[in-house]
Amino acid sequence: MTKNEIINKTDLSASISEFEIYAPLIARSAKAGQFIILRLGEKGERVPVTLVDWDADKGTIAVIIQAVGKSTADFNAMKKGDKFDTVAGPLGAPVEIKKYGVAAVVGGGVGIAEVYPIARALKQAGNRVISVLGARSKDLLILEERMARMSDAFVITTDDGSHGLKGMVTDAVKSLVRQGEKIDAGFIIGPVPMMKFTAKLMKELGIKPYASLNPIMLDGTGMCGCCRVIVDGKVRFACVDGPMFEASNIDFDNLMLRTGEYKQEEKLALEGLSKDHKCKIGLH
Ligand SMILES: Cc1cc2nc3c(=O)[nH]c(=O)nc-3n(C[C@H](O)[C@H](O)[C@H](O)COP(=O)(O)OP(=O)(O)OC[C@H]3O[C@@H](n4cnc5c(N)ncnc54)[C@H](O)[C@@H]3O)c2cc1C
Ligand code: FES
Repeated sequence: MTKNEIINKTDLSASISEFEIYAPLIARSAKAGQFIILRLGEKGERVPVTLVDWDADKGTIAVIIQAVGKSTADFNAMKKGDKFDTVAGPLGAPVEIKKYGVAAVVGGGVGIAEVYPIARALKQAGNRVISVLGARSKDLLILEERMARMSDAFVITTDDGSHGLKGMVTDAVKSLVRQGEKIDAGFIIGPVPMMKFTAKLMKELGIKPYASLNPIMLDGTGMCGCCRVIVDGKVRFACVDGPMFEASNIDFDNLMLRTGEYKQEEKLALEGLSKDHKCKIGLH
């Protein structure tokens, strides 16, 4: 086994794959809520992905990646035995794991992979863990069995009703509270609108919400300022101050605007135009 080598790759759905990577130094110090930066090729994009699992004895880490653009599509085309050029981490602040009492973990889409290590750590710390998992449809739902093993109660929602309850994760949270669950803290990871409305609902229900933010990142070490987010009216850097923040006062609208800033370039890169494109900046 060589450093950064893919030891195993499993496809979890048409667009989501799980990778086991040999990275002994990261495996030794990883904590729930942290992430790594992956890069393929010397000029490759630096892509942050959450540490889902780690095994210090084997020297391996696991990540789950959804192909949404050029870099993640290139990653998901890799096979067992291939190597990433960069595997940097662990980065970010670990989530504070303590006895909250009843903790709800809410994952949407590939956010389920990101919330899984937090559910596991909260369970190990003696919390009652309630998991609420949401996906657009049954074929996009991942880690159902693993999440069920970590949960004292477990609800699935799909937008089209193809599995679990038809509806959104917010409907499930409301219904759990109506049934008498007294939830102390909620950990939310998923698309920005889902985090925004789940955090708002939790605040109204008297549940302390936490959300893991996914702004565009570059260095991942607090130097470029690219990942700035607004929390409680203050600028914070998601890569070092987060990515998980107490979510009662996050400016989710600003986050949404900033993550959409490079949509056109991302679309061109995915369509392959970048291959033949010669940058003319500085030639005139
Ligand atoms: C802390 C953190 C943890 C993450 N964990 C995971 C994970 O476990 N699994 C997973 O599939 N995805 C995860 N993501 C999202 C992942 O980084 C992006 O999907 C990826 O960078 C997209 O790159 P692309 O070139 O394939 O797509 P692009 O076409 O470049 O972009 C597609 C979308 O991804 C966002 N994005 C683009 N570049 C970045 C970047 N450098 N940093 C963050 N977002 C970006 C864009 O806003 C855009 O909406 C995480 C993001 C952050 C910040
Ligand atoms: S990614 Fe550069 S400061 Fe956070």
